[in-house]
Amino acid sequence: MSDVNPILSGSAQSIAAYQEAIEQSTKAVVQWLKQPEMYQGKSVAELRERIQLEFNAEGLGNQAAIERAVEYFLKDSLSVHHPQCVAHLHCPSLVISQAAEVLINATNQSMDSWDQSPSATIIEMKLIAWLREQTGYPAGDAGVFTSGGTQSNLMGLMLARDAFFARQGHSVQLHGLTGNLSKIKVFCSESAHFSVQKNMALMGLGYQSVTQVKTDKFSRMDLNDLQAKLAQAKANGEQVMAIVATAGTTDAGAIDPLAEIAALAAQEQIWVHVDAAWGGALLLSEKYRHLLNGLELADSVTLDFHKQFFQTISCGAFLLKDARHYQLMRYQAAYLNSDFDEEQGVPNLVSKSLQTTRRFDALKLWMGLEALGKKQYAEIIDNGVTLAQEVARFVATQPQLELVMEPQLASVLFRFRPQSGEAADVALLNQRIGDALLASGSANVGVTEADGITCLKLTLLNPTVSLEDVKVLLASVIACGQQLHNA
Ligand SMILES: Cc1ncc(COP(=O)(O)O)c(C=O)c1O
Repeated sequence: MSDVNPILSGSAQSIAAYQEAIEQSTKAVVQWLKQPEMYQGKSVAELRERIQLEFNAEGLGNQAAIERAVEYFLKDSLSVHHPQCVAHLHCPSLVISQAAEVLINATNQSMDSWDQSPSATIIEMKLIAWLREQTGYPAGDAGVFTSGGTQSNLMGLMLARDAFFARQGHSVQLHGLTGNLSKIKVFCSESAHFSVQKNMALMGLGYQSVTQVKTDKFSRMDLNDLQAKLAQAKANGEQVMAIVATAGTTDAGAIDPLAEIAALAAQEQIWVHVDAAWGGALLLSEKYRHLLNGLELADSVTLDFHKQFFQTISCGAFLLKDARHYQLMRYQAAYLNSDFDEEQGVPNLVSKSLQTTRRFDALKLWMGLEALGKKQYAEIIDNGVTLAQEVARFVATQPQLELVMEPQLASVLFRFRPQSGEAADVALLNQRIGDALLASGSANVGVTEADGITCLKLTLLNPTVSLEDVKVLLASVIACGQQLHNA
């Protein structure tokens, strides 16, 4: 072992090494931020060839390891803050979120037990209580920070499943799944996130358990079809364990009719989980908060702060309306949450989470809210929604572009359509535009499908992006499309 102790501690030597390493990394980030390109435009094959691991017995030392990370990782990273980087629900991050990461990482608290994260545990619980209040839930702290939307959706579906079995006197936790499982269904819209399917497979019920409800022309769950499919399920002897409504579908940003879905579900005692991974950002908005009316009726909610809350990855939350349902996943681990501790009122968040060791991601949201205040936070969220409306109006004026759908949150779905000559395959052409722009390093535009046909997508989360920036991007989409079409 080299004579330099590599562990972060209070020793003068360690503190000096820490400061040096952080300073070197920060300087590199500053250089990278100044880079004008969105991406250096290397292909998959080029990066495979270029990136070679160099683990040797002696070790390179911190400085060389950081230099190599700058060379092989940082320089070829995607500038998510770049105005032409608008493909996904992948946000640029708040400066305060970066500062929070420094604190989170250096302290390395773990949220599974109070003795590993004393102040952090209390902050997370208070933040969950605050999020519940914003949601319109009863006072309490049932909920937890998660790695993101997929995990939060898993928690909602798992508790829905176990509550469903519990009503029939069966504990899934103790005895596993039982009965005719092919009859157990989850309903969600055709536009719901694929994590519903993935999670149902993970939970042993398979993709076959997911019944997709049709959507209207705005990608919102169609209530008539929901009603018809619920009736059909009953007639088939199927049992619906949950309806997953979406507040902000991944592409269109559609918000399902939350209150109406909750009312239908209540008639049949069906659990409602709302995936508000994207639309949950409107909780902070004065202008658009009303779009989430009915969210408070859900049994559980997914929120995601590494989308339109501008937090670094990862940062999500799960909220559970009725804390008693947490009993369904309770586990007493003597070394973490002993009976004795719990009787003394020691909060050990492991009993609310699927994870054991867990990052203190809540700090980022807490510091973000304190630094920006609700007003500025709301402004940067609203900005994307308003920009999408402006961009849609502009797209509608462009003869070579077709607006696929009016925007609902901060995304715009559209297609390039060549004016001259017939495009043999408009879908393929649009796919190739997206790929070509990324390969050139100039822009990252989303490629997805609307009504089963490929289209392009701009996800306009970034509050520093202007309408002029988007016009530049659309001009390059048109130029690229025309070139590919003519070739
Ligand atoms: C509506 C919706 N739900 C869930 C998810 C999954 O979230 P995560 O990627 O944080 O797991 C996404 C991701 O984009 C999403 O758009």
